[in-house]
This record gives sequence, structure tokens and C-alpha cells, in this order.
Amino acid sequence: MSLWGWTATVMSISLLLLFNLASNQSDEIVPKGRSLYLRHCASCHGEKGKGDGPLAKFVNPPVPDLTEGVFKFRSTPSGTLPTDNDLKRTISEGISSTPMMGVKGILTNDEIEAIVAFVKTLCPDFQTKGSGNPISIEPPQFTPDLLKLGRQIYYEFQCNTCHGPNGDGDGPMAKSLKDSKGRSIRILSFRDPRNFKGGHSLIDIYRSIMTGLDGTPMASFSEFLTEKEGWAVAYFVHSLIGKKDMKQSSNINVKVKRNETNPFVLSDASWAKLPIFELPLQSLWRTNKPETVRVQVIGDGQNLNFRLSWDDSTRNGKGKFLDSVSIQVPQNLKSPIPSLFWGDNQSPVLVFRWFAGDKLTVFVARGLGNKVSQHYYNAKAKGVWQKGKWSVTLQVKLSETFSRLPFAISIWDASYGDEGERRSITGWHWLEFSP
Ligand code: HEC
Ligand code: HEC
Repeated sequence: MSLWGWTATVMSISLLLLFNLASNQSDEIVPKGRSLYLRHCASCHGEKGKGDGPLAKFVNPPVPDLTEGVFKFRSTPSGTLPTDNDLKRTISEGISSTPMMGVKGILTNDEIEAIVAFVKTLCPDFQTKGSGNPISIEPPQFTPDLLKLGRQIYYEFQCNTCHGPNGDGDGPMAKSLKDSKGRSIRILSFRDPRNFKGGHSLIDIYRSIMTGLDGTPMASFSEFLTEKEGWAVAYFVHSLIGKKDMKQSSNINVKVKRNETNPFVLSDASWAKLPIFELPLQSLWRTNKPETVRVQVIGDGQNLNFRLSWDDSTRNGKGKFLDSVSIQVPQNLKSPIPSLFWGDNQSPVLVFRWFAGDKLTVFVARGLGNKVSQHYYNAKAKGVWQKGKWSVTLQVKLSETFSRLPFAISIWDASYGDEGERRSITGWHWLEFSP
């Protein structure tokens, strides 16, 4: 064999190998994405992405049909499909001000990419048309003149008719806005960073303005504004945001104070010395209240003592609807991170739920509607309502010791009609022993 022939053979073998590797990867990535999707997404989005999961009927804003190819959060022109990165950003960060929690830090990067690959198979347009080409996003230096121009454009292009003169979401058209399916659509204030579904950084805001939120009255302005004008109005909207720090919806490390002696009887003064972690809450179905739950934890890796506190202006301890709080952890510490919505078959969750009046129920759940009570579980809880706040202490003993454990909290505020799946939730966060 000539040297050339030999080189060509080696090359074609390695090409074959490369090809095989690539196709094997995509062969595996979609099924992997599918099983993660079924666990973490299908309760809302439905098995086939039609927006008809068992939780969807409780959720507001409505869960979209992912098969139709209409996406709000894109770096690509209006009417085109998002890029893989766009989908990855939406799934990693979640959609702020909605119950879709981010999974960054909860799932690995590979897992999130597998979900993206699977989500694309739900919508045939991804095969036939493919993603659009991203617009250019290069922010200019801030100048006071740019901000002035932005303010001018805000009124000239009548952003105020919907968003209101000061961005409070109270323009004359705000109340009558409908989405492309004729459902009324909420328009939120620019004052609060949590209200930006597609992200509240300058770049996020520019992207939303220039590409539009497809399927909503928020059109793409790229045909009407030059890039400079787009950045100007993005700077202006960004300048309206009040408190700019915002806590992430998932993946906060809550440090557990280590205490080997029985820490169960703590005075208010000793609780006051423990650090407080504030986790954002999101209502599944109504305007958001309470906004956060405050968490303190002390324990020894198996015995844990929580104090959970949240704002609630009325005490509902009698009657049909009761104020309530629950905390869930994986039942088996080694199983994959469970569905946030009461676990699943492979990863059941152990749930402790307290009701005003100090009733405590403990159950193991394997998904919505699949709950088995644990009548003899060793746990105690006590709640105190004072000055518009609930404060509940909960003592539990887990079956194993841990050093880092995922957990999530739900709150029911009865005076707003919370009951069953109508509740406020946190994403998954972590309990971690302080060194
Ligand atoms: C608690 C319900 C819920 C869960 C769980 C959930 N989503 Fe969503 N999702 C929503 C809602 C509601 C919207 C629409 C929000 C809006 O547009 O205001 C949405 C929108 C989306 C969109 C459309 C984004 C766009 O650009 O328009 C995608 C894609 C998506 N979700 C993927 C996922 C994936 C993947 C998962 C699992 C990792 C997931 N969702 C979990 C409720 C959920
Ligand atoms: C016809 C009404 C209307 C006009 C005019 C309008 N918007 Fe919007 N805009 C909306 C609606 C509705 C939403 C929320 C869509 C949703 O939540 O799905 C929105 C959302 C936004 C968002 C937030 C995106 C996010 O991440 O949640 C920004 C930023 C924004 N608009 C900026 C502007 C600017 C700047 C202008 C003028 C150049 C403008 N809008 C004009 C209706 C309008």
C-alpha cells in the first residue's frame, strides 16, 4: 500500500469512528433528555409537550404548547425558532414570575443539554426549518445621552400605552391585552427585576425588545429601531428596575448549624442567633404572596430542627381551608434528584406537612396524587402566628445521615384560597452542614 493509500485508509477509519461517536451521542442524548423531561417538566408540559400535564390546570400563566413552534424567549428574529442556547438559558434560569423554576445547579450541564435536545424533538419545525439566526448583541458604552434618547423612544414608540408612563405596567391598553390565543395577558411592572421573564440584565432586555415575545402583544422592534436606539431604550428600561439584586429560584445553599446534643428545645433567643436563609416563593396560580420563606436549620446530619417563617396577614386555623407549610426531601438519599412536584416512581420524596392548629402529616409521595401516609413517623411541629407572620418549628429524624441534601418548601395561605396544588413553592435548594 502506498503511503497515500495508507493515510487515506487511516483517515477514513478515524472519520468513521468520529461519525459513529457523533451518532451514538445523539442516539443516547434524546432518550436521556426524554426521561429527565418526564421527571422535571411533564407535570406541567405533558408527556408530548402539548401543555396538558396534570398540574397545568392549576398553573397561571398558562403552560404553552411546545409543539407549535411559537417561542417567547429567543435571540432570533420574530417568527423563527430559538437556538439551543436560547432554550438552554430558559430551562437553566427558569421563567421568573412564573412557576417554571430554573434547574441550573440542580441538574448538570449535560443533563440540561439532553433536555434541550429532547424538547426540540417535540416540535417538528426544528427538523424542517431549524433555528433562526441570532441577532447581533453588542452593548455600547453607557452615556447619559443614550439614556435620554431611550426615554424619548419609550414615548415616541408608545411603549407607555401598554407599560405605563413609568413602566409600572399600567398603560391605557394594559388591561385589555390578549395573547395570540385570545387569553388575557398580565403585564408586569419594570420596577421589580423578578418581573422580567426573559431575564433582567441589559442584554436580556435588549434581546426581548429587538426580537419580541412571540405569541404576545409584545412585538419585535428590530424593524423600527436602529441598534443604537434599541440599546438606548434597553438602558432606559433597565434604569427603571428598583432593587437590582434578585435571589435565584433554585440552588441556594442553606447552611445547617451543627449541633450534636439534642437541639430540639430552642428558646427564641437561641433561634435569633442562627443565620436566616430567605428563599423566594412563587405561587403556582395567583399573584405572588408571600414572596419569601425564611429558613433556619440546626441538627446533626440525621436529626434536624427547622424554623420556617413567612408573612401572612391573617391566621386561618379553623374551617375548610387552613394555613399550611410543607418541606420535602428525597426519600432515598442516593436516588436522582426527584420531580419538584411530589417526587416520582424512581425518586420518591418524604414530605412533612404542618397545618395551622398544629396537625402534622408525614407521607411518601411518588408523584401528583400518589401519596402514602406514614402514620408512625417520628416528627413534631408547632406553629405560632404573631404580628402578621407564621413561625413554625419542625423536628424530624431522617433514616440516614447526609452532608448535602436537596429540599423544597410549599406554603398555603388559606385567606387567598390556597388549597391542594394551589400553593406557593420554592425550587430545589440544598441543606448543607456549615464547616
Ligand atoms: C410548574 C409548571 C412548569 C414546569 C414544571 C416546567 N415549565 Fe416550562 N413553562 C411553564 C409555563 C407556565 C411557561 C410559560 C411562561 C410564560 O410564557 O409566561 C413555560 C414555558 C416553557 C418554554 C417556552 C419558552 C419560550 O421561549 O416561550 C419551554 C421551552 C419550557 N417551558 C420548557 C420546560 C422544561 C424543559 C421544563 C423542565 C426542565 C419545564 N419547562 C418545566 C411551566 C412549567
Ligand atoms: C401593545 C402593548 C405593548 C407595547 C406597545 C410594548 N409592549 Fe413590551 N410587553 C407587552 C406585554 C404584554 C409584555 C409581557 C409579555 C409576557 O409576559 O408574556 C411585554 C414585555 C416587555 C418586556 C419584558 C420582557 C420579559 O422579559 O418579561 C420588556 C423589556 C418590554 N416589554 C419592553 C417594551 C418596550 C421598550 C416597548 C416599546 C419600544 C414595548 N415593550 C412596547 C406589551 C407591549
